Amino acid sequence: MTGTDSKTVVNSWNEWDPLKHVIVGRADGCCIPPSEPASDPKIPADSDMLGMYGPRSDESVEKANAQLDNLAGILEAHGVRVDRPEPMDFSQAIATPDWEHGSMFGCQPPRDVILTLGSEMLEATMSYRSRWFEYLCYRPLLQRYYNEDPNMRHEAAPKPRLTNASYKEDYLSDDITIDERLELVASKDFVTTEEEPLFDAADCLRFGRDLVVQHGFTTNLKGADWLQRHFPDHRVHTVNFPGDPYPIHIDATFTPLRPGLIINNPDRRIADDCRGLFERNDWEIVDAARPAHNEPPALCYSSVWLSMNVLMIDEKTVCAEASEVHQLEQLDKFGFNVIPVPFRDAYPFGGGLHCATTDVYREGTCQDYFPKA
Ligand code: ALA
Repeated sequence: MTGTDSKTVVNSWNEWDPLKHVIVGRADGCCIPPSEPASDPKIPADSDMLGMYGPRSDESVEKANAQLDNLAGILEAHGVRVDRPEPMDFSQAIATPDWEHGSMFGCQPPRDVILTLGSEMLEATMSYRSRWFEYLCYRPLLQRYYNEDPNMRHEAAPKPRLTNASYKEDYLSDDITIDERLELVASKDFVTTEEEPLFDAADCLRFGRDLVVQHGFTTNLKGADWLQRHFPDHRVHTVNFPGDPYPIHIDATFTPLRPGLIINNPDRRIADDCRGLFERNDWEIVDAARPAHNEPPALCYSSVWLSMNVLMIDEKTVCAEASEVHQLEQLDKFGFNVIPVPFRDAYPFGGGLHCATTDVYREGTCQDYFPKA
């Protein structure tokens, strides 16, 4: 029997327990959305994304889908059941009573949208207008899990209004230097305001009873507070990485590999005042290996640090990008069984191997990995 025949159970408490069922994104119809208040400060000044918008080329979609399908096949060969979201016409204009926007984005990175914690799958608020309706791509799957697993909890965080009040006007001047940008970020001055709770699911890492949540461009303090109120039996820890000029999503910055071991981007070390939890509980935070590439692929939102955006199949087995020779070597030295997965063609569609997946079922229970809280 393959993983695809198994009964539906929604359950996942962390990033490393044995993976049995996962959603893998798709590149179909993906668009580069027009600019919006949230996006401008997040696109590096030297990025080829600046000023671009519209559907991505058929050729790039095919290449990305080939790598996504290959990832799905590798996971299935390891006994993991794989489901895929349903793309929409992402090129259509969208509107709410508060705003209109020229297009949507896509459904490659399920990790950004759905947070699975225990038997709950939670649709994140999201913080870009272009991604406001992205949850619809996952609804057919979530409805099915809801029907098939009587314990599954399908939840949606309050949809934000995303009016201009949710973003700082003139957050950045056009000629801001990288040092000035780093000062802003280090002082926790981000583009989003505290008007309403905002979070992307990819700013959250799950460590059993504890959730580690990056406060940055895509998640505000109210978003972290909403998560704490929503999960009252959990402890939510807000963290910052002052070296990251574009703090968007935690999973190219801080990656737990197994209980007690985290790799941290050496250019974005965790802030000193956030280390205590890990140190008190004897978790080792090790510098991640340097990326093998100097540049991300063309038209990519993410940085070269997708090298550390790995997917754990269990606490001994890791999928890592096939050309990331330094990261592969570091993981090998840590003693992991390393599965190289070619994925750079999929990067521009929303990130790496962790981004491209979201858990439905990992074996295991909710553990306390930080008893000295
Ligand atoms: N924002 C993350 C990076 O590109 C994903 O490094």
